Amino acid sequence: MAFTTTVLAWSVLEFGGFMGGPDRDHALDAIRWGTDYLLKATSRPGIVYVQVGDPYRDHGCWERPEDMDTPRTSYAVNASSPGSEVAAEIAAALASSSRAFRMVDPAYSKTLLSRAEQVFEFADKHRGSYNDSLGHWVCPFYCDFSGYTDELIWAAAWLFVATKRPYYWSYVVHNVEKNHMALNANFGEFGWDSKHAGINILVSKYVMKGGIDSNPFLPDADRFICSILPESPTKSVKYSPGGLLFKPGGSNMQHAASLSYLLLVYARHLKEANRTVRCGKVVASADRLIQVARSQADYILGSNPSGMSYMVGYGNKFPQRIHHRGSSLPSVIKHPKRIECKEGSPYFLTKSPNRNVLVGAIVGGPLNVQDHYDDNRTEFRQSEPTTYMNAPFVGVLAFFKGDPNLSRT
Ligand SMILES: *[C@@H]1O[C@H](CO)[C@@H](O)[C@H](O)[C@H]1NC(C)=O
Ligand SMILES: *[C@@H]1O[C@H](CO)[C@@H](O)[C@H](O)[C@H]1NC(C)=O
Ligand SMILES: *[C@@H]1O[C@H](CO)[C@@H](O)[C@H](O)[C@H]1NC(C)=O
Ligand SMILES: *[C@@H]1O[C@H](CO)[C@@H](O)[C@H](O)[C@H]1NC(C)=O
Ligand SMILES: *[C@@H]1O[C@H](CO)[C@@H](O)[C@H](O)[C@H]1NC(C)=O
Repeated sequence: MAFTTTVLAWSVLEFGGFMGGPDRDHALDAIRWGTDYLLKATSRPGIVYVQVGDPYRDHGCWERPEDMDTPRTSYAVNASSPGSEVAAEIAAALASSSRAFRMVDPAYSKTLLSRAEQVFEFADKHRGSYNDSLGHWVCPFYCDFSGYTDELIWAAAWLFVATKRPYYWSYVVHNVEKNHMALNANFGEFGWDSKHAGINILVSKYVMKGGIDSNPFLPDADRFICSILPESPTKSVKYSPGGLLFKPGGSNMQHAASLSYLLLVYARHLKEANRTVRCGKVVASADRLIQVARSQADYILGSNPSGMSYMVGYGNKFPQRIHHRGSSLPSVIKHPKRIECKEGSPYFLTKSPNRNVLVGAIVGGPLNVQDHYDDNRTEFRQSEPTTYMNAPFVGVLAFFKGDPNLSRT
């Protein structure tokens, strides 16, 4: 949720001008929904509430939010049981959002910023993974795989964006240099767990302007771009016959959406600096990056071999059996009687389409590189929608709304 909020705020900062007034207001409303919650979760100094609900009991039920009666236990990290990855991502969300609200609501923006600084200090001073502190309450469900160094640097980078204080810049430079080897293992990743590629693309805006040493940020950002472009000799992702950027592991649309978002942000910085990216003998212009992002956006919205939009409710053909409790169970208006924990199972297992159309939700998409999608509720790696897939896509769509004919192929 914190990552979703950070990326939505970044989308407003980069491409808010292309959204148009009403859509930008919707985006800001969505961000505020997240930051209001995160302010409450961090209101007591030295404690960060990171999860509500027993994940074992919750996963054991297929029921509507209105009927839920599983324990609402809350889980917190603190100085003796730290959680730097989750606390730092919350700091990043508060800092980026503070920047997004600076002009529209200065008082709120100030509140977000001072909280961001406080939470970052807590995350940095008391280092550790919530994996270890909260154990089986958070992992195997929501494990941290990539460690917390990336989130600490990411949060510091956002605090630099929000404050321009040299302290945060030094923190970023010092820690990237110190951990470069370890960070390198994930240089091509950007998602709720790994922030690495995002750090380099975010920071590139400041180092490209000159006056600041661009090492290692620009080489790492370029290397990331070269790991994505289809024609690059150092490409490390795959493309399906239909043109979908693919990485193994499920919920693939998170990669298609988040990496496309980074391509567009970098393209913008490249244009401003009159730069290109060199991948061996291949030279890629900003327009080429935009073209690749465009191909992914078009694929997600229906330009693919199945002729299906992976955004629910968009186009003539879209997923009908998404892995989502509220969407698959009948509404309380149509079925006022309570549906108990296990009474939802028939709705989970039925071959019938979901009762409620969750308009706008993007699902995980194909599980293999052959463009094949199983429209099956039990196949959650394909059919589950998540906010961390939708959030970067907001930025992608805003960019193309700004110039709808850009790089149409
Ligand atoms: C710190 O958090 C852990 C894990 O949530 C908890 O068991 C412990 O009681 C907390 N310590 C304090 C001093 O609140
Ligand atoms: C958290 O747990 C997962 C699963 O056991 C493990 O792969 C990962 O390395 C752990 N992360 C940290 C930061 O310890
Ligand atoms: C941009 O770079 C190209 C090639 O390096 C150069 O020919 C051109 O004059 C530059 N344009 C601007 C506006 O600096
Ligand atoms: C969904 O997949 C499950 C197992 O993977 C299978 O048993 C079931 O028949 C499938 N349902 C549909 C609607 O194809
Ligand atoms: C985009 O292309 C269409 C069809 O070629 C054209 O009608 C429209 O004016 C163009 N829009 C913009 C914003 O350039």
